Amino acid sequence: MAVRIIGTGSCLAEKEVTNDELAKYVDTSDEWISSRTGIKKRRIAIEETTTSMASEAARRALEMAGRDASEVDLIIVATVTPDYYTPSVACQVQAEIGADNAIAFDVNAACSGFVFALNTAKMYIETGYTKNALVIGAETLSKIMDWNDRGTCVLFGDGAGAAYLEESDMGIINIVQGSIGKKGMVLNCRARKTNNVFVQGEIEPDFLHMDGQEVYKFAVRQCPKCLLEALEKADMTPEDIDYFVLHQANVRIIQSVAKRLKAPIEKFPMTLDYTGNMSAASVPVMLDELVRERGIKRGDKVAVSAFGAGLTYAAAIIEW
Ligand code: UT7
Repeated sequence: MAVRIIGTGSCLAEKEVTNDELAKYVDTSDEWISSRTGIKKRRIAIEETTTSMASEAARRALEMAGRDASEVDLIIVATVTPDYYTPSVACQVQAEIGADNAIAFDVNAACSGFVFALNTAKMYIETGYTKNALVIGAETLSKIMDWNDRGTCVLFGDGAGAAYLEESDMGIINIVQGSIGKKGMVLNCRARKTNNVFVQGEIEPDFLHMDGQEVYKFAVRQCPKCLLEALEKADMTPEDIDYFVLHQANVRIIQSVAKRLKAPIEKFPMTLDYTGNMSAASVPVMLDELVRERGIKRGDKVAVSAFGAGLTYAAAIIEW
């Protein structure tokens, strides 16, 4: 028995912002952003919320799968940018799409969040606890950016991607995941401080802070390592893979992983030039593009890998 993705969907924020447009507000340039990251534009939320984009991506995934929201048993949303501390985005998506019979909760594993949630959903289905699952990665990163910090605010974008899973004869072969909490502060965004009648903390939460070079070093080391581990467990080599779907953070990271795996860069589809880094949303949005625009076929082999704050990392091998 395997667990298979039978529907995908995505929804990006409507407003497109090019590097040149951003340079009117931030001390930066298209030349710097393009050459260091490969990002040329991104979407920025104006009306959208994390919940609204997650719900739309979910509706599209269910439509592709030919399933009604009332049939969904489980909704997991991976996000670091929920609209509320509580209720979770997953509970709000449940209400929005009318998935009244679903269990719903969020996971926070930053850019690895979608793959972490995928593994959780896989286990729910494999144990027979649920028959299906809707796994969503959704982010409105623009709201946690310090728009005076040019080293971070130019990198990120807003959007959501979803995958609907059911039991099948082929599908996810294996997933490896890990966390390195002691390095967590290299990419952080503090929540509210302790605040009560005995101690006055700051009420406002902080913005995102990143030591870009440390994250870069972590990514180029850990991403190929966990991909090779997942491939080995699947008794496969990089040559067996048709598509490498990597977290869309930086074209230089993707090129470095391709080199380490000795795999042609053509096998690494990318959205980052027009989406920027959408954290947990970047992998499911890339998967949806593979399905809708790049002609992925049943039986194709896909290796997925994501890395990010926590620090966290994960890789998945999928027979599509
Ligand atoms: O989802 C995971 C999240 N994060 C990542 O994957 C990020 C991984 N890291 C990276 O991709 C790279 O470290 C960055 C793209 C973030 C930065 O590239 P870098 O080559 O490490 O640049 P840097 O931070 O060392 O900065 C080099 C220079 C500095 O100027 P000086 O001190 O050399 O004069 C920065 O002030 O570039 C300057 N700079 C900028 N200039 C124009 C930093 N950001 C910008 C900017 N526009 N947006």
